[in-house]
Amino acid sequence: MTAPADAPVTSVLRVSHLSKAYNGVLALDDVDLDVRPGEVHALLGGNGSGKSTLIKVLAGVVDAEDGAALELGDDRLDLGGWNSDKAYDAGLRFVHQQPAVFLDLSIAENIAFGTPFPKNRAGKIDWKALNRRTAELLALFQVDADPSTLLGALRAADRTRVAIIRAVQDREDATSGVLVLDEPTAALPASEVEHLLDSLRRYAAAGQTILYVSHRLDEVLSVADRVTVLRDGRKVATVDAEGLTEGDLVELIVGRPIDRMFPEPTDAPDREVALTVSGLRGGPLKDVSFALHQGEVLGLAGLLGSGRSELLRMLFGAYPVSAGTITLGGREVRFAGPSEAMSAGVAYVPEERQADALFQGQSVRANMTAGAASSYFSKLLFRHDDEKRDSADAIRRFLIRVGTDTQPVETLSGGNAQKVVLARWLRRRPTVLLLDEPTQGVDIAARAEIYALVREATRQGTSVLLVASDPEEMAHACDRVIVLRNGRITADVRPPIEAHRLTELVNLAEKAS
Ligand SMILES: Nc1ncnc2c1ncn2[C@@H]1O[C@H](COP(=O)(O)OP(=O)(O)OP(=O)(O)O)[C@@H](O)[C@H]1O
Ligand SMILES: [Mg+2]
Repeated sequence: MTAPADAPVTSVLRVSHLSKAYNGVLALDDVDLDVRPGEVHALLGGNGSGKSTLIKVLAGVVDAEDGAALELGDDRLDLGGWNSDKAYDAGLRFVHQQPAVFLDLSIAENIAFGTPFPKNRAGKIDWKALNRRTAELLALFQVDADPSTLLGALRAADRTRVAIIRAVQDREDATSGVLVLDEPTAALPASEVEHLLDSLRRYAAAGQTILYVSHRLDEVLSVADRVTVLRDGRKVATVDAEGLTEGDLVELIVGRPIDRMFPEPTDAPDREVALTVSGLRGGPLKDVSFALHQGEVLGLAGLLGSGRSELLRMLFGAYPVSAGTITLGGREVRFAGPSEAMSAGVAYVPEERQADALFQGQSVRANMTAGAASSYFSKLLFRHDDEKRDSADAIRRFLIRVGTDTQPVETLSGGNAQKVVLARWLRRRPTVLLLDEPTQGVDIAARAEIYALVREATRQGTSVLLVASDPEEMAHACDRVIVLRNGRITADVRPPIEAHRLTELVNLAEKAS
């Protein structure tokens, strides 16, 4: 469907003069956005630049300041009094940054949430119809699972698909409306991202419109038709994606070119051993043995479901070990729980940033310094000034965008929340630091910065075991990478580490098994 060359391009959604202040601080400042029918439109910007806020305004869950206008197709609407029911009726569908899915309910039940359950003539939920419809939707989005499967049993990529299916289930024949996705791929490894993007491309090719947020610029270039960039709450530009490079996007997002210099790898294997794992079993792990050297950044590569996260959690005393030994600083340890691991100097930054790792309701500062409280007591006086200075220091170094550090941590944007968790653990100078997807949702400017800070911690003696789904990032950030495959370590890759080689080794597993 091509419009005549001189016909005005119609918008499926257009917002203008959109502003939003939180406690007097502008999160959005006079922003315009127009989305055309059938396009994939990427919304980009650094952490805290206002992307999720814009999406929440569209969804009717956050009120805009007066003066904003919204057009949907030919309808001009008033954003005053906009709410989630109106957004729904207008055909807007959302998958938010932390989609509310229920892991202990079945796929069918999850999908049934948010829409009227199909009822039979007796007025009871028609499970047969629900299961049939769910099976169709699962097939459409290439999820290989039964409607009755518990959501918790699915891998992350499929959970995301279920959240998307739930949002779009009644939109199959619609041509108006927009599917809005806030960082749908943040939690997915590269191989899975491609799979999800395929689903999105097919969905758009069928005439649907998608607005989505991502920090992965290669992915944006491969899927988006147009791109809008926000910086500090203002719109910088809307541009066609064709012909753009990642460097162009970085400049638009950050405002200047940045050299994404990762710290130089160090040659650690000759150094003392900090941690040894030998014959470890439990969950998906069949027999895992390796050594982590002092001051080393050791990468752990593997497919999703290979047991990478379980291994980290075992080392933190948070997942049952059925056999094998863990030796820390020459002594065998068997942690009964995370608190024992923490006292032994082991720190863990989990993948699920908000849920597992932050103290909701407490300030950013308290979250950042949590666990270090005893170090601020001097002669029974709590040294607030020191705490305040350390917190300010961390905010500066991690490029955390926050009004004041006394604001509650749940008011932070997703990526900034992740930085707070990292800052807290890094400043504790742990002996062993376990990092699971530490830069998930973190913007391009802060990524290399975070690895520089990790590297600084290693110079102070911390040893790091790192799981990251992006092979490019692994190759840059690690001194050495081990590959977990079929429950065993199958390769030990030393510098020069090449991303494509890691991808090969990891995917080899699938073919061989
Ligand atoms: N409820 C709130 N109260 C106060 N400030 C808030 C609240 N929600 C968001 N903010 C602030 O608004 C700004 C924009 O946040 P937003 O979540 O829109 O960023 P984002 O672009 O989605 O970032 P990210 O990439 O990290 O997800 C941030 O500075 C954030 O701290
Ligand atoms: Mg966000």
